[in-house]
Amino acid sequence: MSNKNLIDLEAVSVPQIAKIVKKARKIMQSPADFRHACDGKILATLFYEPSTRTQMSFQTAMLKLGGRTIGFDNPMNSSVAKGESLKDTISVISGYADIIAIRHPVEGTAMAASLYSQVPLINCGDGGHLHPTQTLTDIVTLSCEKERLDHLKIGVCGDLLNGRTVHSLIKTLAKYEGNSFVLISTPELGVPLYIIDILEKNGCTYEISHNLADAITDLDVLYMTRIQRERFKNEEEYQAQKNVFVLDREKLDRARADMIILHPLPRVNEITVDIDDDPRALYFKQAQYGMYGRMALILLLLQDEDFLIEAPNADISQHRCKNPKCITQTEAYLPSLSYRKLGMQMCEFCDKRID
Ligand code: CP
Repeated sequence: MSNKNLIDLEAVSVPQIAKIVKKARKIMQSPADFRHACDGKILATLFYEPSTRTQMSFQTAMLKLGGRTIGFDNPMNSSVAKGESLKDTISVISGYADIIAIRHPVEGTAMAASLYSQVPLINCGDGGHLHPTQTLTDIVTLSCEKERLDHLKIGVCGDLLNGRTVHSLIKTLAKYEGNSFVLISTPELGVPLYIIDILEKNGCTYEISHNLADAITDLDVLYMTRIQRERFKNEEEYQAQKNVFVLDREKLDRARADMIILHPLPRVNEITVDIDDDPRALYFKQAQYGMYGRMALILLLLQDEDFLIEAPNADISQHRCKNPKCITQTEAYLPSLSYRKLGMQMCEFCDKRID
């Protein structure tokens, strides 16, 4: 398997993450120096699920580097509508483009696609699983706005069960010394157990809270997230969860003056609009930092031979993944790949237990 696919930021070492951040900051300082860095290169954006920021920031990133883009933002306008498999789509497009950015509503799709790509492939979100380039966005933001990625007290609030941005963020920040987490959600939408395992394995302090007003008082960073209607089994379950946590002026008044508010966006109701003018509200600036992070990532994947991402070390498993949200359920030709972790056999695609 290639060392040039970004499926999970966990496979990127701390020095490599520092390299991305350094490059992003360099591009921000001197964008003109990079105007022709990707002349002649083509990025394919394959978005099987709606997106504003990730898709357009990747496209803008490639255009600002002098490259061009192809792709679709509605698979029903592609041959996917005629029943073409993921394998065939990726095998063909990797013959057209130099790099692929893919988003899909099914967990493990980016990993599955990477098996059939001849060019670097970037996970732009796979169901409720992971969203590594959102985490790059968050990391670049923290680096620029807090000047550090360690010794931060980070509150994450909202749908921590299905929130792929939260999973990727916690997994990454857990690698840095002294970070602690306050996990603010309803009992139904708490983080999956594998995220708790990661926090414990990394020796990170964490608290579970069901009260945003209490939790907000001593945070360095508050990371708000949307309750994602599209991840619920039915409307009734969504209605029971929406609007439980809303950051409003009254709650923000309890926070420190130097706390920053991040949100991967889109926002629905979880931050009231009057907060937008508060100097601590950085979510729109965060989206712009993301474009620079993605420019840096494209450059490093295409041009830096030393920028290598750990390739998965999976074995063929005798067990088939039973997670109904895993890509192995719908793309039957995929091999059953798994790896061992904490004495358990885990699906290589969706990271759920399979034994
Ligand atoms: N943060 C994020 O992934 O936004 P989009 O869904 O608009 O890409």
